[in-house]
Amino acid sequence: MPVTIGALRESVPGETRVSIVPEVAGKLAAAGARVLIERGAGVKAQFPDALYQKAEWADSAAQVLAQADILLTVQPPDLALIGALRPGSVVIGFMQAHARSTEVKALRDRRVTSFAMELVPRISRAQSMDALSSQAAIAGYKAVLIAANTLDRFLPMLTTAAGTIRPAQVLIVGVGVAGLQAIATARRLGAIVEAYDVRSATREQVKSLGAKFIETGVSAEGTGGYARELTAEEKAKQQEVLEGRIAVADAVITTAAIPGRPAPRIVSRAAVERMKAGAVIVDIPAESGGNCELTRAGETVVHNGVKIVGPVNLPAQLAYHASEMYSRNLLNFLKPALDKDGALAIDWNDEVFAQSCLTHDGAIKHEATRKAVEGT
Ligand code: NAI
Repeated sequence: MPVTIGALRESVPGETRVSIVPEVAGKLAAAGARVLIERGAGVKAQFPDALYQKAEWADSAAQVLAQADILLTVQPPDLALIGALRPGSVVIGFMQAHARSTEVKALRDRRVTSFAMELVPRISRAQSMDALSSQAAIAGYKAVLIAANTLDRFLPMLTTAAGTIRPAQVLIVGVGVAGLQAIATARRLGAIVEAYDVRSATREQVKSLGAKFIETGVSAEGTGGYARELTAEEKAKQQEVLEGRIAVADAVITTAAIPGRPAPRIVSRAAVERMKAGAVIVDIPAESGGNCELTRAGETVVHNGVKIVGPVNLPAQLAYHASEMYSRNLLNFLKPALDKDGALAIDWNDEVFAQSCLTHDGAIKHEATRKAVEGT
């Protein structure tokens, strides 16, 4: 039997993205599935209902949930939503399991199969499903635009009849997916760009984008291509060099993160106090504590004339392309699990499904989450 795949209007305030865009609805329908969408789901991302030619419509979330075999979401499901999912159904989206143990237990007890997009392994074969990357690239791009808009200076060098304008100095801290996109965007806007990451593998990537890599003598490659937490001594060494570069920057974009941990503190109050008035910090990980000591999520703090922007849900500010990319990530994840008749057939030997599965059949399958939630 073909599956019914559902999508809802996202209910978290400020969320503008939609999990199924019209193109993806068409592809799921072509794969034999029935696509059922709550009316108005795509409106905030500029995908009005009329653009969906291959979907059926429901007037309420409850109608979608009562029929969906598979629900595709953007934000993690809350308790009310989980309680309305059909036992045995599948939900796929960002789950933020490390911060939501009550919801994880509810998914387990409801016997829902949940897949977390942030747990999809970062192997070459799964690149097209990598929602962390697609959304981080958007955050990096948008953060530079926010910096440009907040600064009372130009980014590029300009030679005008009123004199020559010096280009802005932009510093990018953390050169993962968001940082790389931030470097590229700041370069396109004509800024002079420096960047720093604890992973020395990023040095060549920074250079290839036409930016300068800041050498601090600290290298902290962790497992799986991620950074590890620094020792106190390493932090002090890093801090000394970085603070000198932060002091001369017009704009600092911070992107540093360690999976499952609070964002590392890199820009101290003292470092902010050495910056010039009018300088801007855009702190991408604001929601997980921020890389700057003075950041407040959802606010712009002004300290001694330095503006510290703590953005919340940057991808939602570019809802059209963020939805398009995320929806394609979901399609690429789900498609191998649909057989030729559009029925669900998950290959549990496939590491992509095995590793990204959070709950299944009344159990928490992701080991680190299980230990954190069940304590054994
Ligand atoms: P992330 O969002 O976890 O962290 C962002 C950056 O912050 C990382 O580059 C990290 O090294 C850096 N960082 C952490 N602590 C820091 C500190 N104290 N000071 C300065 N920088 C610090 O990372 P993201 O963007 O999710 O990517 C992490 C890695 O995974 C990258 O190497 C990326 O190339 C790799 N990756 C591999 C993929 C694949 O093979 N399919 C897909 C996407 C990413």
